[in-house]
Amino acid sequence: MKVVGGPCSKDLAGKIAELLSAPMVPARTKRFPDGEFYFKFDEDVSGEDLLIVQSLYPPQDPHLLELFLMLHTARDLGADRIRLFVPYLAYSRQDKRYLEGECLSSKMIGEILEDLGADILYTVDIHNRRVLSMYKIPTYNLTASGELARYFAEKGLVNPIVVSPDDEEIAIERARYAAETIGAEYDFLEKRRDRYTGEIVTYEKQVDVMDRDAIVIDDIISTGKTAANAVRILKKQGARRVFVGVSHALLLGDAVGLLNEVGVEEIVGTDSVMNEYAKVSVAPILVKALKEEPSP
Ligand code: R5P
Repeated sequence: MKVVGGPCSKDLAGKIAELLSAPMVPARTKRFPDGEFYFKFDEDVSGEDLLIVQSLYPPQDPHLLELFLMLHTARDLGADRIRLFVPYLAYSRQDKRYLEGECLSSKMIGEILEDLGADILYTVDIHNRRVLSMYKIPTYNLTASGELARYFAEKGLVNPIVVSPDDEEIAIERARYAAETIGAEYDFLEKRRDRYTGEIVTYEKQVDVMDRDAIVIDDIISTGKTAANAVRILKKQGARRVFVGVSHALLLGDAVGLLNEVGVEEIVGTDSVMNEYAKVSVAPILVKALKEEPSP
């Protein structure tokens, strides 16, 4: 297998290649003065098994087009098996039309990736895993929650508890897995979001955090409101320190400011999103999954 690093995930692709002892495919990218993207493989990829690595963090739309162009080029030039590793799979909220007339963006993206010739898709902590059931190709949703918990545990925690900031099944599962990884307890808060205004309310459910270190584990920090609500409630209930570990630290607008205001101890993301909070790598998680991939 050879690894192709998309413009969003060059370092991550390099780490994956190193762990797999696989070569990187030399490639060239640039943007024309009008903003259009250019991609070129600098070696023959025909007959090769390729792993294209490209996360789709904001701005999602140009990053998506980069992925489409890389995938199209690989298929067009005769690559054999093409795996995609898209840690942050943008547009993964809608598995159905919640309101009449809504677009099904996640379905469209899946259809395009399949039409362009992807054989297998790997992603990390997808926001809504039901989205993957719309794909015809094999898909794998990996989780970074265990690695995030391990990062905090290595710092030396006092009687830790992992807390999910909302009560969705998938969110509680992530918190449970993170807790199991470090031998801690877990709990969850209850959150509701208004489908029209996007306003978030987190209920002040009692959590056993008094004098304990808490780790809030979530898939995404976008505006930071969900995580900030959780940190505020846990601090108010007597938590010693509250850490936030998140697979995709988008941290839009004043998200960091909001979290600092409520007294977060540390915000940790993964290299799914390249920023200063990317302290945990998703490379080992993918490599383990590739080694366990069922044969076709
Ligand atoms: C929501 O269901 C997700 O799991 C995240 O909690 C959410 O996307 C975070 O968004 P924000 O940072 O804007 O509250």
